[in-house]
Amino acid sequence: MDISIIELNRLNFYRASELHGGLVLGQLVARVRDPHLILNLTRHSAEEVMHSEVWAETILAVGGRPAPVKNTYQRRLAKLVGPVSSVFQVLALTQVFERRVYRHFIDHTRLPGTHAFVRGALERMIEEERGHLSWVKDWLEEEAEVRGVDLKAMLDRRVAIDARVYDELLYEFGFRVRAA
Ligand SMILES: [Fe+2]
Ligand SMILES: [Fe+2]
Repeated sequence: MDISIIELNRLNFYRASELHGGLVLGQLVARVRDPHLILNLTRHSAEEVMHSEVWAETILAVGGRPAPVKNTYQRRLAKLVGPVSSVFQVLALTQVFERRVYRHFIDHTRLPGTHAFVRGALERMIEEERGHLSWVKDWLEEEAEVRGVDLKAMLDRRVAIDARVYDELLYEFGFRVRAA
């Protein structure tokens, strides 16, 4: 295998979380009526599933094996956030999560010794994540206006929860070493 076990575990976690995210978004499509929202959610879902495919390909290309992951990013977030039902709430959480992913993937490309295939996959994701961030942001802003919701306060609460999940992951996947 051309990458370390710890790097393989990271990629496999990305793979499973992208797929989980794509499936969650895809399931929302059946619950909305706005034609543009149907299109955007479908595209977004398809791209996340495709990202999962790219990770599976990348893992195989560097001699690793994709393996099942139960505790995806989404599952960890859901444990802390509790049940999230409305499309508005799912997309608010998606926005917070995607901002995190975007920044994290940029950080990952800067890790010394990152395999060229892994860097290539990360760069492709970073490009597509920009589109995800922008359509969800626009939709949330419009929707918050209509509902009279303080979007910033709503997002800030989720940012705090996401930070807890992310902090654990940094240790678990060896991006940060826990102080003795
Ligand atoms: Fe993605
Ligand atoms: Fe995304």
